[in-house]
Amino acid sequence: MADSFKIDFQAHGKVETGDLIVFVGDNLKPTPAVAKLLGPKTVDLVAKAASAEAFKGKAKTALSIVVPAGLSVDRLIVIGLGGEKDRKDVDFVQLGGLIAGKANGKDVTVMLDLPGIEVSPDAVADMALGAQLRRYSFDRYKTKKKDEDESRKGGRLVFSVADPAAAKKAYKSREGVQQGVIIARDLVNEPPNVLGPQEFAARAQALTKLGVEVEILDDKAMRKLGMNALLGVAQGSVRGGRVAVMRWNGGKANDKPIAFIGKGVVFDSGGISIKPGAGMEDMKGDMAGAACVVGLMHALASRKAKANVVGAIGLVENMPDGNAQRPGDIVTTMSGQTIEIINTDAEGRLVLADVLWYVQDRFKPKFMVDLATLTGAILVALAQEYAGLFSNNDELAERLAAAGKATGERVWRMPLGPEFDKMIDSKFADMKNSAGRFGGSSTAAALLQRFVNDVPWAHLDIAGTAMGSPATEINKGWSSGWGVRLLDRLVRDHYEA
Ligand code: BES
Ligand code: MN
Ligand code: ZN
Repeated sequence: MADSFKIDFQAHGKVETGDLIVFVGDNLKPTPAVAKLLGPKTVDLVAKAASAEAFKGKAKTALSIVVPAGLSVDRLIVIGLGGEKDRKDVDFVQLGGLIAGKANGKDVTVMLDLPGIEVSPDAVADMALGAQLRRYSFDRYKTKKKDEDESRKGGRLVFSVADPAAAKKAYKSREGVQQGVIIARDLVNEPPNVLGPQEFAARAQALTKLGVEVEILDDKAMRKLGMNALLGVAQGSVRGGRVAVMRWNGGKANDKPIAFIGKGVVFDSGGISIKPGAGMEDMKGDMAGAACVVGLMHALASRKAKANVVGAIGLVENMPDGNAQRPGDIVTTMSGQTIEIINTDAEGRLVLADVLWYVQDRFKPKFMVDLATLTGAILVALAQEYAGLFSNNDELAERLAAAGKATGERVWRMPLGPEFDKMIDSKFADMKNSAGRFGGSSTAAALLQRFVNDVPWAHLDIAGTAMGSPATEINKGWSSGWGVRLLDRLVRDHYEA
């Protein structure tokens, strides 16, 4: 992320250069502090410019005045916060993204005295986070940089606040999450020739620098454990599969860990049940669940979270090949249960079946959450607005929903139950990996559930939210890094001692 801001905090005072950002409500009246900063001449100029531009101070709109008379700054940007109702429930992360989108200059000062809105240090930190996420771009493989990218390099974003020290401290604790989201986005954006299972595992291994313990299971280790469902998917690729196990021990020594599990299919061609060509390139992102887990572990370790956390990711490539798995094959999973392969494109559940079992068996977690770009059917149900949430535990489901509301990474609960479980019974094995189109997301979740004993568990189907998502103020790119903020919040609110 070459063009991230250098973030700073200062007390209210004169602003001489760069872009100056101030806020107004839908009555267009500057707060006393803002009026004082601008001076009567500029306040008058704003009123005239607003009328000329038909700027009404509505939420998410902005008025930009270049070289404003009476000030020495390059640009004065007035951002609307709307009416009382809009101002009651401001998403500060999104607002930070909006600021970064409206600011053009290199140095930007944001005057944080908002009409009728209390801006806590946490809110300032959220804005800084949103601004940085907005600035993210993935241009590693562009050999010709745009002038605009160059001119933004090394820009500063300064928040003018009542208590700069408190804001600075709050932002410090947000930086790890910010980096975690960016790590997840980068992993999802990387092309599949560059990021195979082994290279992905190496990126997980890099977390050792932050004090995370990382173990990598290779083919041999997985065979020994009997992870034949995962290995069956991997066998069509010349690049062997891996499982990466990351452990952050920030909690009490004997406290059982909480666990996050990610689907990491570095490329999903569908295998022998090959996918149609159109859009297949998007399947480089079929490892977004694993990317989120790596980003989350980074975030938790960075802020030295007081929790014991296991992150485990199953890394494979799903390819057609002379040695690839066939429809009709039956594999014996690590749990001992057998699965008949109906469709080699329903591979994510096979990978997760073994990793879920492994984590549950070895770590006896307090609860586990898996994330997977698992089914196209979740896009049919929830578009790209919500991730599908499946859970055997109401409390965990409610906590996830609350964290979703708080972060804007929203989840919607979907059904599990005996009806769906019955649909995956197989003629020849204990279960089959596909039950056809009807209830596709629920039958996939039902298969996962057969690998979960009595531990509280939630499955997040992120096929819609992780990539190609609708642009928001903090995400203009292809991959969103979805889930890092959500799960960081879940851990922070409920599981830190
Ligand atoms: N990785 C896909 C699901 C997917 C679709 C992710 C669109 C992101 C965007 C998954 O492995 C898959 O192919 N699922 C099949 C399952 C079917 C064969 C039972 C699907 O959803 O069509
Ligand atoms: Mn697939
Ligand atoms: Zn897949």
